[in-house]
Amino acid sequence: MTGDDRQVPLLELTDIAVHFGGVKAVDGVSLDLHQGRIYGIMGANGSGKSTLLGAITRLNPLTRGIMRFDGREFTTVRPHAVAHLGVARTFQTVRLIDDRTVRDNVQLGVDTVSRDRRDQLTSTVDEVMERVGVAAVARMRPSELSYGMQRRVEIARAIVACPRLLLLDEPTAGMNTAERDEVSELMRALQVEGFTQLLVEHDVPMMVDVCDYLFGMNQGELIAQGDPEAVVADEAVRESYLGKAAGNA
Ligand SMILES: Nc1ncnc2c1ncn2[C@@H]1O[C@H](COP(=O)(O)OP(=O)(O)OP(=O)(O)O)[C@@H](O)[C@H]1O
Ligand SMILES: [Mg+2]
Repeated sequence: MTGDDRQVPLLELTDIAVHFGGVKAVDGVSLDLHQGRIYGIMGANGSGKSTLLGAITRLNPLTRGIMRFDGREFTTVRPHAVAHLGVARTFQTVRLIDDRTVRDNVQLGVDTVSRDRRDQLTSTVDEVMERVGVAAVARMRPSELSYGMQRRVEIARAIVACPRLLLLDEPTAGMNTAERDEVSELMRALQVEGFTQLLVEHDVPMMVDVCDYLFGMNQGELIAQGDPEAVVADEAVRESYLGKAAGNA
């Protein structure tokens, strides 16, 4: 990341912590994300990955730390203000409104965008639904769709806001291999357009394939970071995660 290090990071976290009572879900994470790259976070169940995304989107209250977006501190803003900065996410558990159509759910992504950014949106709701493969089901309700399709609707809702930073929490959970490949392809296409992405996934080959840079997380802390192949091969990462994953398989 040598060249990028001289630029102001798009996202800069300094020593952030999220404690739930005695549970140190995130505990002293510092990281920089630079414009246009695809980052991944890998780590065992309960290592704090989703909580970290929740901290960035201000849904999980910080116990300590400082967060900056494009050089400006946003540590204490409200969640909608994070969306206005240009941060969008998908959730690990699908969160769609079931008494609205797929199209309405995707439209909700536009509604999170601040007024002054709204005319900068490059794709319409219909274009995004086409691109993510949900145009044919636009009039259906989320509950009528397979889990994989529901996840696509969530991705569409996130990217229609044309976010500067896209956070994806296990976007391919419940998808088959072909659908997973489509998500990887979509992420690469978004990268070409300049989107910065942070992916949480348990699919290690996908992470190595799609990410430029990986973070290894364990018990609320980052234990490794760097080139994906190196992080996957890292002994502490293997012990905390890959060993367990292999044991579960
Ligand atoms: N709202 C909450 N209240 C209390 N504890 C929480 C809360 N959210 C998460 N935790 C705890 O924080 C720790 C980290 O959870 P988190 O969901 O961030 O892990 P994760 O890395 O996303 O795991 P997974 O791979 O299973 O999704 C866990 O011990 C979890 O039980
Ligand atoms: Mg999680």
